[in-house]
Amino acid sequence: MTASVTRAVIRGVGHYLPERVVENDWFTTFLDTSDEWIKSRSGIERRHFAAEGQTTSDLATRAAEGALADAGMQPDDIDTIILATSTPDLTFPATATIVQERLGMTRGFAFDVQAVCAGFVYALSNANALILSGQARRVLVIGAETFSRIMNWEDRTTCVLFGDGAGAVILEATEGTGTASDRGILATDLHSDGRHRDILKVSGGVSASQSTGHLMMAGKEVFRHAVEKLARSTIDVLDRAGVTVGDVDCVIPHQANIRIISRTAQKLDLPMEKVVVTVQDHGNTSAASIPLAMSVAKASGQVSEGDLVVTEAIGGGLAWGAVALRW
Ligand code: ACO
Repeated sequence: MTASVTRAVIRGVGHYLPERVVENDWFTTFLDTSDEWIKSRSGIERRHFAAEGQTTSDLATRAAEGALADAGMQPDDIDTIILATSTPDLTFPATATIVQERLGMTRGFAFDVQAVCAGFVYALSNANALILSGQARRVLVIGAETFSRIMNWEDRTTCVLFGDGAGAVILEATEGTGTASDRGILATDLHSDGRHRDILKVSGGVSASQSTGHLMMAGKEVFRHAVEKLARSTIDVLDRAGVTVGDVDCVIPHQANIRIISRTAQKLDLPMEKVVVTVQDHGNTSAASIPLAMSVAKASGQVSEGDLVVTEAIGGGLAWGAVALRW
């Protein structure tokens, strides 16, 4: 006999990308770089940059409105907003509360999660925990970033890699049977290791320097950790969900670099046809990259109801993890 359990099921997705599209060639006007270098090393061809004055909450609100419309819900149907970002509008309040007000949501609670590029996986896991513990029934999970604000435009090794954007999903408590055939989140797997915090960081911050700072990255080292840790986390989360790599219909990885995405897939023996790739059009949008890719994949039909999906990410901290879910 199977037991009745609560599952956090995705009811809606949405995304927003700023209007301004910047092709690789733009960087050649002020840096010693080329479209060929950027494309071959990262897979990135273009990215979107927020307009002057356009904030992370602007992007997040648009993505959230899309997810609400997709779910057929109103703002006050939501109990909780969790917003993953490393580029908040302000030091405080949480950008999530700004979005709460902008959506016209007058109840519930809203907070930010900061785990850099792993932020959405962390936020999704936290949303799942709130739903499973009965503290919330409907959670709006947003990943939103304006990484263009923390670029060092003189550093060709980093500024060509990132972009701005936002994506959102709505999770709802739903009864399941407790088996891997249930819709919803089946398992989560989170890790961090602060010993590696210096290989990917921002050079300033409120307490340390009273400034915003710029992104700095030891790319080769991050790369080395990424493939190994993402593959391990994916295997572990699938194992915890009671499924195997062979059961996976769709992989939605963090979109940092096509070489990391394809080498991780290769290590897992997963064909690239099953992998959602948006890095060519979005660049690395940090916490926004996974919900953006989810929304694009749903719109294109690459992911559909009943599919077994695994999503994985790594970023500054280092922080990494994976989530297995049935769409
Ligand atoms: N244009 C032209 N040449 C460049 C550029 C550029 N934009 N950037 C670096 N180079 C040069 C370097 O100076 C170096 O020249 P040298 O050999 O004369 O010193 C040469 O290209 C090779 O540089 P590498 O750093 O060795 O290039 P690599 O193949 O490692 O690619 C990259 C660099 C793309 C950053 C890669 O290491 C990478 O993707 N790492 C992972 C980064 C990542 O994914 N981070 C995101 C995860 S976490 C998060 O999302 C925040």
